[in-house]
Amino acid sequence: MSEDSGHSYALQMINVDKYFGAVCALRNVSFEVGSNEIIGLIGDNGAGKSTIVKILTGVFPPTSGELYIAGRKVDFRKYNVKKAHDYGIETVYQDKSLGEKQVLWRNFFIGRNITHPFGFINVRKEKEIANEIMLNTIGFRGKGITVDSKVSKLSGGERQGVAIGRAMHFQAELILLDEPTVALSLKEVRKVLDFVHQIKDGGKACIYISHDIQDVYEISDRFVIIDRGKIVANILKQDIGRRDLDSFLLEYAHGMKDGVEG
Ligand SMILES: Nc1ncnc2c1ncn2[C@@H]1O[C@H](COP(=O)(O)OP(=O)(O)OP(=O)(O)O)[C@@H](O)[C@H]1O
Ligand SMILES: [Mg+2]
Repeated sequence: MSEDSGHSYALQMINVDKYFGAVCALRNVSFEVGSNEIIGLIGDNGAGKSTIVKILTGVFPPTSGELYIAGRKVDFRKYNVKKAHDYGIETVYQDKSLGEKQVLWRNFFIGRNITHPFGFINVRKEKEIANEIMLNTIGFRGKGITVDSKVSKLSGGERQGVAIGRAMHFQAELILLDEPTVALSLKEVRKVLDFVHQIKDGGKACIYISHDIQDVYEISDRFVIIDRGKIVANILKQDIGRRDLDSFLLEYAHGMKDGVEG
């Protein structure tokens, strides 16, 4: 695949800092994601998880540091959400994955419309594919929701379902799921977890962010733990049991490691 010593990474983040004004949200963040690896990114509220996701997806650049996607160095001056799609990165955001006021089918194709030879959007084709995704990938059956429904009419879980269906359809190399299960019922959560298993089986990679450690533990190959903007641990699942992971996280939550870290 790529240049070096046989490693194949979906992603490498190297020494990334991110400041919002005087606030340091990320400090010297380095980690990598293997090309067929599921990473559980864990940390408290405000730790910097969503900031990492937004840098990866071209929402904003880091203040400094480097990013490699599938071995290719990202030029942040030219990086944006569309470019991230071109690189095979799909994201289900914690807050707004979908345009509220838009109808569903349009949401599937934002930034990558199917066009006729003269550049007009092929509405018929887009609706057809959106309908296919809704029935077969997401499984919205007989709920009174069609491709023409407005996003604002959907529940939180249904919205996440659409965003995930979109990611699946476009066969992303790396899928970022930022709290994909917050608004979901247990049954819907199960679907999301199954979906992550499918990502793994399909040979692709994923970064999964959730406060539900049981879920994260189930699906991850490795845990990257972030505390107030710094990566504090990077642990293979085979090296830590569920209970030990819990106690480890509790120590951070209670500031017990404060004296130890620099
Ligand atoms: N656009 C922004 N402007 C200013 N500060 C920001 C911005 N986005 C994030 N921050 C700050 O950066 C830090 C990290 O925020 P981030 O959203 O990445 O946390 P998080 O780990 O995703 O938390 P949560 O689990 O609550 O979603 C926080 O202190 C937050 O207030
Ligand atoms: Mg967040």
